[in-house]
Amino acid sequence: LKEQTYGLGMIGLGVMGRNLVLNISDHGLAVAGYDKDWDKVQELRKEAQERKIKAAENLEELIGSLRVPRTIMMLVPAGGPVDSVIGDLIPRLEPGDLIIDGGNSHFRDTDARLKRLAENKLLYMGVGVSGGEKGARYGPSIMPGGREEAYARVRPIFEAAAAQVEKEPCVTYLGPGSAGHYVKMVHNGIEYGVMQLIAESYHILKQGLGLSDDELSDLFAEWNQKELNGYLMEISSEIFKHRDEKTENRLIDMILDEARQKGTGRWSAQDALELELPAPNIDIAVAARYISARSDERRAISGSDIGHGTAFGGDRKSLVAYLREAVYAATILTYSQGFSQLKAASDAYDYGLNLEEIARIWRGGCIIRAALLNDIRRAFHEKKELSNLLLDATFEERVEKRLESLRFVVGTAVNLGIPVPGLGVALSYMDSFRSPWLPANLIQAQRDLFGAHTYERKDEKGVFHTDWEKG
Ligand code: 6PG
Repeated sequence: LKEQTYGLGMIGLGVMGRNLVLNISDHGLAVAGYDKDWDKVQELRKEAQERKIKAAENLEELIGSLRVPRTIMMLVPAGGPVDSVIGDLIPRLEPGDLIIDGGNSHFRDTDARLKRLAENKLLYMGVGVSGGEKGARYGPSIMPGGREEAYARVRPIFEAAAAQVEKEPCVTYLGPGSAGHYVKMVHNGIEYGVMQLIAESYHILKQGLGLSDDELSDLFAEWNQKELNGYLMEISSEIFKHRDEKTENRLIDMILDEARQKGTGRWSAQDALELELPAPNIDIAVAARYISARSDERRAISGSDIGHGTAFGGDRKSLVAYLREAVYAATILTYSQGFSQLKAASDAYDYGLNLEEIARIWRGGCIIRAALLNDIRRAFHEKKELSNLLLDATFEERVEKRLESLRFVVGTAVNLGIPVPGLGVALSYMDSFRSPWLPANLIQAQRDLFGAHTYERKDEKGVFHTDWEKG
């Protein structure tokens, strides 16, 4: 193809960037790609044959190949690399060109970059892309934020490349500024929360009931057929079947029990705290990863008798059935916390988020896609401004119906010495919200006694302080 004919330029040809280039090219658009790593350019060149793909050798070549006004997407690691690419691009671009950050950038960085690029008369978008390697290649969920005129330019590309559910693309314009990256961050927060719940059920089934990897795989496959249907459940079932190439064992049993993270779940939890929005399942999922990673401390402390767990002596079948219900209830509560956070953020940062649409675009392509999202979509369709999913009668009833199961499972795990921070905190979250009275009056009294922080009364308006020593 001649110069200035490519519709999109991709900078960063790692797993996500390269696969997204191939995906977009499948839909007939001419795409150019560049990476500062020469091997990656070569790799794309090999795959480019017979396709309208250009593997550019340098930034000038990439920019020269693009149709004006130019559209350039970056898929490079969050942080310094994004700023460094932007710094390289600014002097080479012209007013009206559009730069898209498709990585997991912190939303505050996206806000700052939007400002910087606007000063240079360039358009900028922060876009969340979820779905890992396969999603990028065959249809991710795409979460775009920024100016609407910028979105209008890339809309056909994104709609073609996104996952499709019931003929609807899993992409929509989410809102101004950093709305896209914010939504992706909370997606990851929910991702951490749900992964933790599945991991805890694995812990109970393995340690409490002694299930084998095959049995675990079969059980999760069965759960995936019913209300717990979702991508994370599906892959968990597959994981237990996978054999290690180096040994005869299952790979799962050869993997070190220390969870890592790149930080998006932590950011989600941090901002929930800033917004004064309780999202304990996301907080605890981050903390549980930290505890797992402190394996030296864990091993040193496990010299004591507690926490080793003993086998469950009760009715095994019932525990499995209760566990399924418990995980479902806690999963609803985790999504619920994530959506409440989106609502709070939308109000605080003026994103104008449409929660129904977010539930819709999460139904396909992304890591947290699950059958549950159909119902969440319905709930927000009926009541746009729902600040808590539990205020929807169907969801409230669904959790309420499974509360005894959740209580039984948490109690059983506690007795067995099996940690269930996610299930436990979900139960407490629900119990707190359904509690007309909470002991916060004591906290207020303590604050007033030691620091004269004042309190409010039941019988009178205003703020009060008492001289507690007086009598
Ligand atoms: C996605 C994922 C992805 C994320 C990984 C790893 O939606 O495709 O959220 O963006 O980077 O899940 O996250 P951690 O390394 O933080 O676990």
